[in-house]
Amino acid sequence: MVLRTLMYVSLSQISPSAADAATRSIVTKSIEKNGQSGLSGALVFSGRYFVQILEGPEDRVGDLCETLKADVRHSDLVIINDRPIERRKFASWRMAFVGPSVFVDRQVNRLASSPSDGEVVRVAGWLETLLAECDPLATGYHIQKDFQ
Ligand SMILES: Cc1cc2nc3c(=O)[nH]c(=O)nc-3n(C[C@H](O)[C@H](O)[C@H](O)COP(=O)(O)O)c2cc1C
Repeated sequence: MVLRTLMYVSLSQISPSAADAATRSIVTKSIEKNGQSGLSGALVFSGRYFVQILEGPEDRVGDLCETLKADVRHSDLVIINDRPIERRKFASWRMAFVGPSVFVDRQVNRLASSPSDGEVVRVAGWLETLLAECDPLATGYHIQKDFQ
């Protein structure tokens, strides 16, 4: 079975007052559905942007990506990494949630406003480190309040 990883950035269309409930609902649904379809990954919400890494069987990742593109809770979805992998980075869990964070927002804003190759590689590496750090916390629902 070919495994694939996909990372994207998107712009939230959720109003700040609705963000907590809306992101809780996304995370709950994702944990349930990703478990059924063999997908793992991580979701970061900065208050303004979403960054998500998905891993799993090639076709399942592709199917979810199409679903995500049609989800009106975010827009301007830009794929910043999409490639085959041999092993999962986030095998032990399904979905983590970190947010809202001015720090993450600033990093992602740099990526969105100047998407040069160097910037993509820099931010993708940084985000993977951040998401890997979430690993021990990710069995439940983790909210990292603003850390600058
Ligand atoms: C930022 C964001 C991330 C999401 N991540 C996932 C995900 O990892 N897995 C998933 O099944 N749905 C995810 N969703 C929700 C899907 O877009 C879609 O609403 C859901 O899969 C539909 O499920 P249903 O057909 O069972 O109602 C996400 C939505 C948003 C806005």
